[in-house]
Amino acid sequence: MSSLSLPISSLLALFFLVFLTRVPTILFADDPRACRETLTCGSVSSIGYPFWGMNRPSYCGQPGFELRCENNVTEILMNENTLRVLDIDPERQILKVAREDYWNGYCSTEFINTSIDFNHFNYGSNFRNLTLFYGCYPLATSTSLPNCTINSTLTDVSYAVRNMLGDPRYSICREIVVVPVYEAAAKELEVNPMSMQAALSGGFELQWEAVNDQCRRCRDSDGICVYKQTSYSFTCFCSDKLSLTTCFPTTEGTL
Ligand SMILES: *[C@@H]1O[C@H](CO)[C@@H](O)[C@H](O)[C@H]1NC(C)=O
Ligand SMILES: *[C@@H]1O[C@H](CO)[C@@H](O)[C@H](O)[C@H]1NC(C)=O
Ligand SMILES: *[C@@H]1O[C@H](CO)[C@@H](O)[C@H](O)[C@H]1NC(C)=O
Ligand SMILES: *[C@@H]1O[C@H](CO)[C@@H](O)[C@H](O)[C@H]1NC(C)=O
Ligand SMILES: *[C@@H]1O[C@H](CO)[C@@H](O)[C@H](O)[C@H]1NC(C)=O
Repeated sequence: MSSLSLPISSLLALFFLVFLTRVPTILFADDPRACRETLTCGSVSSIGYPFWGMNRPSYCGQPGFELRCENNVTEILMNENTLRVLDIDPERQILKVAREDYWNGYCSTEFINTSIDFNHFNYGSNFRNLTLFYGCYPLATSTSLPNCTINSTLTDVSYAVRNMLGDPRYSICREIVVVPVYEAAAKELEVNPMSMQAALSGGFELQWEAVNDQCRRCRDSDGICVYKQTSYSFTCFCSDKLSLTTCFPTTEGTL
């Protein structure tokens, strides 16, 4: 053996060794193994794909599904709203949320309507719109609530849980805010204004689209669900390769 061929062949061997073990990293710049981690914060625990945030890097979930943890409270931002996440049901793909700014009552210092990210979510079926009217004085209604002190200004408040055509409040009141509540909470509000706090903190449901089916199949095959940001698509990470579906050698239909 010449003194030259040995280093070259070992270099080649080294190259292939490095190349082979680094395949996942070459195909996928981020480490998908980080996506085995789940999210836990406050009342929400063990949450995985399509959610990300906190200890899960952005490539572990879909855009629009970022969760934050603020003082032991899970939050999701949607347009202008900060929503407090009360519960997540991955099986039914339902997120139970409440308006963070109305969590402590109806005397919010800012008047913002509820605006959902319809690209990723939809309202659940069992909700009704609660409309809060601020600054309608001297218009008197039967659904008046105790006055609010908003930024040191006394403000009268009333509400509606049904859309009444020609309700004069739409043209008279200074501010109007719509907050979804559960159908049961709306029914209770029809007879009992004192249930307002419970209605607001009870929240409402959002359903997210069926991105979990792919992920379930991937996870069943011992893969890790990731989101490939370069192609804006779901990807299944199998210990040595990326797959569009599952890690089973034979494609779908085996389970
Ligand atoms: C966070 O919230 C959970 C559930 O609500 C509770 O069990 C836990 O004690 C809280 N932890 C802290 C540090 O407040
Ligand atoms: C109350 O004050 C806050 C902070 O200055 C301000 O952002 C908000 O718009 C005010 N709200 C009202 C209703 O004037
Ligand atoms: C909220 O929506 C209602 C009707 O849907 C509208 O009348 C009101 O002006 C809106 N309020 C704000 C603060 O944008
Ligand atoms: C509630 O109001 C929103 C707009 O603010 C509207 O898109 C939705 O259809 C309403 N839902 C019900 C059940 O009234
Ligand atoms: C709210 O304040 C108005 C005066 O601005 C007063 O006439 C009214 O009785 C108060 N309403 C309640 C429910 O306290």
